[in-house]
Amino acid sequence: MNQHFKPNSIAGRDVKAHLHSQTNPRRFEEQGPLIVTRGEGIRVFDDAGKPYIDAMAGLWCASLGFNNARLAAAATKQYGELGFYHTFFNRTHEPATDLAETLLELTGMKGGKAYFATSGSEANETMVKLAWVYHTVRGKPTKRKVIARDRAFHGSTIAAASMCGLTFMHREFGLPIAGFLHTLCPDPYRGTLAGESEDQFIGRLVGELEKLILREGPDTIAAFIAEPINAGGGIIVPPRAYFARLQAVLAKYDILCLGDEIVCGFGRTGNWFGKETVGMKPDMMSLAKGLSSSYFPISAVVLRSEIYEAVNEFNKAGGSFGHGFTNSGHPVGVAVALETIAIYNEMNVVEHVRRMGARLRGHFEAMADRFPIIGDVRGAGLMLGIELVADRESRTPFDPALQAGLTFDQIAYDNGLIGRCMGDTLGFSPPLIVTEKDVDEIAERCEKSLKELHSRLRK
Ligand SMILES: Cc1ncc(COP(=O)(O)O)c(C=O)c1O
Repeated sequence: MNQHFKPNSIAGRDVKAHLHSQTNPRRFEEQGPLIVTRGEGIRVFDDAGKPYIDAMAGLWCASLGFNNARLAAAATKQYGELGFYHTFFNRTHEPATDLAETLLELTGMKGGKAYFATSGSEANETMVKLAWVYHTVRGKPTKRKVIARDRAFHGSTIAAASMCGLTFMHREFGLPIAGFLHTLCPDPYRGTLAGESEDQFIGRLVGELEKLILREGPDTIAAFIAEPINAGGGIIVPPRAYFARLQAVLAKYDILCLGDEIVCGFGRTGNWFGKETVGMKPDMMSLAKGLSSSYFPISAVVLRSEIYEAVNEFNKAGGSFGHGFTNSGHPVGVAVALETIAIYNEMNVVEHVRRMGARLRGHFEAMADRFPIIGDVRGAGLMLGIELVADRESRTPFDPALQAGLTFDQIAYDNGLIGRCMGDTLGFSPPLIVTEKDVDEIAERCEKSLKELHSRLRK
């Protein structure tokens, strides 16, 4: 252990005892943790009392900020009434029933079913398993493979990580496992070829997908999975006609479309669900994060009735759906999710996100006029990205050794702003409760940090 931490300090003890997710071990041992002691609205405070605006809502998730009293009260009330019960073997409780109905209504999946799990990864893996049941029951048991996209993020468990299209999720573990394939990422800024129109770009993306399906054999492909807007891969908004044309190919080969709404769901993109923002029509959707503002680890899958019917049919001889998590439909999780959704409704989340998102985007676009290192401003609602470039005209990226994005994050952090770089794309996904004043403050701190970055990069 690095000697510069006092052995009994939280930092010293944490460095000694705690293995952190998505953290470089050596850098962590050197730098130690950011110790977060409390939250207040969109701000968190470190152990020295310094406030930060968390413009990422933690991990794209704390949509109602960091100390919402109503969510705390909903959890406390539910703990007092029924602190745990499971949903195996025909068991339920009213909050779980209420949330299942609410989700079907909100997602437009009426007549279908809602299934509960505890993490986004579990929800995504549940969708894969349901796709397998669906095809098996319909006499197509060889349909097993799943196609995801380059730069996708779908979680950390083995199949979910295999669906990721990011090398950092694969390299230590020898992933992806067999049967998990990847196709092109619909990134208009980086993916469009010189002279290619949007229509031609979409045609090429969809053509590549079809080639992959034909190469593997359509009778081996169960499902395609995508986020409406790719979050962790760099806030990538596909061209408007992309999903409609892509889904025509999926339909042609009887391939299910799985929508990962774990980040995009619950207002984030300026609609209740990202599918509305991009014109996607999924057969199943995975939900987490904003579902409970991450005040409780709860996730869900909503599925079309045909998929439920397959589960029913498979078990007609008396077997049980062989799937489930101890905490599926945990009473406190569903109570917190119901309260979260009630608050979204009261604050008119969609309209609010559209207004705040347009204001923040306006600030970023104005900054692009002042900073030539801004190559692209993109996103939807309160899910925005700024891509930094060495040369705007030619879209030439910075030399990766400069670590422009990471340097921005460090400067911003010193300026009391938590963002998240994905390579040289700066992500902004603040709590959805941001006010006009908050948005202006995020922009001010961002601009100040960009100025410092700009002068450092020129040295
Ligand atoms: C789009 C997307 N899908 C899935 C996941 C995985 O969720 P979890 O970390 O809850 O397993 C994440 C997490 O960041 C995500 O961003």
